[in-house]
Order: sequence, then C-alpha cells, then structure tokens
Amino acid sequence: MSRTVIHGGLVVTASDEIHADVLIEGGRIAALAAHGTDAATSWSADRRIDATGMYVLPGGVDAHTHMEMPFGGTYAADTFETGTRAAAWGGTTTIVDFAIQTMGRSLREGLDTWHAKADGRCAVDYGFHMILSDVNESSLKEMDRLVAEGVTSFKLFMAYPGVFYSDDGRILRAMQRASGNGGLVMMHAENGIAIDVLVEQALAEGRTDPRYHGDVRKVALEAEATHRAVQLARVAGAPLYVVHVSADEAVDEIAAARHKGLPVFGETCPQYLFLSTDNLAEPGFEGAKYVCSTPLRPREHQEVLWRGLRTNELQVVSTDHCPFCFSGQKEMGRGDFSKIPNGMPGVEHRMDLLHQAVVDGHLSRRRWVEIACASPARMFGLYPKKGTIAPGADADVVIYDPGAEQTISAETHHMAVDYSAYEGRRVTGQVRTVLSRGVPVIEDRAYVGHAGHGTYLPRGTCQYL
Ligand code: URP
Ligand code: ZN
Ligand code: ZN
Repeated sequence: MSRTVIHGGLVVTASDEIHADVLIEGGRIAALAAHGTDAATSWSADRRIDATGMYVLPGGVDAHTHMEMPFGGTYAADTFETGTRAAAWGGTTTIVDFAIQTMGRSLREGLDTWHAKADGRCAVDYGFHMILSDVNESSLKEMDRLVAEGVTSFKLFMAYPGVFYSDDGRILRAMQRASGNGGLVMMHAENGIAIDVLVEQALAEGRTDPRYHGDVRKVALEAEATHRAVQLARVAGAPLYVVHVSADEAVDEIAAARHKGLPVFGETCPQYLFLSTDNLAEPGFEGAKYVCSTPLRPREHQEVLWRGLRTNELQVVSTDHCPFCFSGQKEMGRGDFSKIPNGMPGVEHRMDLLHQAVVDGHLSRRRWVEIACASPARMFGLYPKKGTIAPGADADVVIYDPGAEQTISAETHHMAVDYSAYEGRRVTGQVRTVLSRGVPVIEDRAYVGHAGHGTYLPRGTCQYL
C-alpha cells in the first residue's frame, strides 16, 4: 500500500487549524500527528510532500455544476473531461453535477445519459443530482429508486416555463415524495411565469441589451418564489435547499424559515459575491458574459450574502458552473437578451475567490473550508469521505499557498471557455498541489492527472437532517 506524508503545513478543516503532518495510506487519510513529534517523524513513506508555509486543506466540493448541459439551444462548453480538470486546478476534488430528465422521458434514461457523458472522463470524483422536468406518477416512483442508489437530491425549477418549469402542484408532489424517501429538493426559486411577461414587454419596447436580463428578473420575483418554495416544503414536511441565492430579500426568506426551525438551506455562488449589475451593463454586448439566472444584483446585495454566509443563514458556496463561450454562444442573444444562454464559468476559481474573502475579512479560514468543502459534503451525503481531513476520509488534499499572488485570466485558466468573468482580477492565494484519493492530480502547479481517475460517487442522504 503506497504511503504519502505531507509535513510542515497548517491543516485547516471546518473545525480546526492545527500544525500537523498527515499520513496517507492507500488513498485514505491514515493519521495526523503534531509536526515534529516522534509519532510524525517515525512514519515511513514512499512520497514526502513539504507543505511548510502552506495550508493543507480538504479538497473542495462543488455541489452545483453543469458540464455539457444542453441549454438555450446549445451546450455548456466544458465537457466532464475539461471541466473536472479545471476543477482540479482550482483545488476542487469533487463535483456534483446535474443529470437531466427530458420531458416525457424517465429519470433513469436521463441518469444513464449523464453517466455515459462522465464515465471514464473525469479527473476528479463526481456525483449526480437529478433535474426533475416532468413530475408524474412514474417519475415520482423513480425518485425512491434513485435515492436508494445514491442520487439523493432533485432540482426543480420555478423558472423557465416550457423548459424545466414545474407548477406548484408538481413541486408539492415532488416534495411530498422527498419527505418520505429522504431526498433533498433543490429549488431554482424565481417566478418564471411573471418573468416571461416582463421579458416580452421589455423586448417589445426595444430593451434588448444584456442589462435588461437583470432588470426583468426582479428581486421581488426571487424573494416571492423563495417564500413560496419554503411554504410548499413546509406543507409537504420536506427539507429544502435553495440554489444560487442572489438577492437580499431571498436571504431574508431563508433566514426567516430557519428562525422558525424549518429545514431550509441556502447556497450562493462567487458571481453574486464578487460581481454585480455593473458587469451586466458593460458596453458592447460584454454584459452577455454575465448573464445567468438568478441574475447578478446591485452591489448592495453582496454584503447581505457575506453576512448570510457568516451567520449560517447560507450554508454553501457552489459555482453553478455553466460556461458558454462569448463567441458563437453568448452571441446568440445579440439583439435579444432572452436568447443569451444562461450561465457562467467558475469551477476553477471558487476556492481562490473565497480565500480572497478570507484575506478581505469577510470569512474566517475555517468558515472558508466549511462553506466550500465540509458543508456541501454534509449537505449531499458525502461526509466524512469528502470535505475533511480526518482518519478514514478519502485523501483528497489541497496544498494551498496563501501568499501566492495571481491574476485570473482566460489566457491562463483551464476551463474550455473563451472568457473569464473575473478577467484581470488579482487574488492572493493559489493551489500548489492537489491529491485525489492520495494520487497527485496537480503537482507543483503542473497537471499530472488523467481522464478516468475520477470515480462516480453514490451519495447518502442529507446529513443535516
Ligand atoms: O444561469 C444559470 N444558472 N444556468 C444554469 C442552469 C441553472 O438554472 O442553474
Ligand atoms: Zn437554476
Ligand atoms: Zn445551475
């Protein structure tokens, strides 16, 4: 059994910061011992990694990605191969992607299709949520089987009528089923019916630029949908996880539900923490790069999101990585913002941007690891295999240089997309080395992984319940 020792670093988990050496045996964490102690120095190893001056972190868990997602008449530009490689570069060693049920088809068929896309191609480990597009007797029954085999979370949409949209009755039925089988309903909470009216009116009045994408997807319509989702979950007796929360009033709805003791959870994404409607308003159709739903909000919302993350009103930061190239894909919406494919790249930079938030004083180091590694792992039934550094856990480990300076750019990133939403942004901190189950994937800033190393992760149910 191969043995690796990581020595001299500061091990940071959601609960502790300790100067400890880490012994890895056969792909798992075998032991931690205080640096310099007899216990640590007695370990024999095939490989020794010097982490002096570095953080030793659990690999990041990005619980919201869309590799190769068919959307808006095109496909998200990252494949499972390119997207998981980029994830590794950024210190993310687990993704949970969304398999999609096509209207009129079974969940099984959708899941099989996503397995075929990912199988043998991933650089890091991956699991699946299931998008429920067609709630009916048969898909409700299938939910039970999926939960039993490790697909334990289901996304429903209050947005996108005619595509993924479910009405309140269908949502209630899916939630009732989840309350019985242990599944977690993930909600895209925007009032899509009302939004479509505003889209039609905006286009008719000649308001066609990307900035109007943000205008029509009103804060009130995110807050209203969030409120409605909470009430439906309450009636069903089901837990609820609200994805990509962007608006202050939506945070208020989640906080109010949690203060009542309801099992309601919230996720936000780096784009809502670092970008704003100013980006959507960039001239010359540049704003299309920032079109995603829920949309970017005015800057004032950012402070509420940071506060929500600090106070545990929000539990998770995922990327909602759904990249479309500017050239040929975002451009489909020139002259009609509603035709711009919704989604942004981000899987590579979540850990770095959140470390910058540590540097800037928004988060503590442990909270950084909690919202990016431990909480998503717990939320989606992967803990303590993923999300921590403790004996028995998978040896998904990031050696992170907290003092390295880098400039984010499309010229140097590894995602298969022709722009960066953070072009030119300077951040402090950078991944040096990444192990996935003890195997180096990034070594001293060189990619040494391979497609097919990443394995599928059947998941348990939500561990907050
Ligand atoms: O704009 C986004 N978020 N695209 C991906 C699909 C979704 O709603 O998460
Ligand atoms: Zn969504
Ligand atoms: Zn998404």
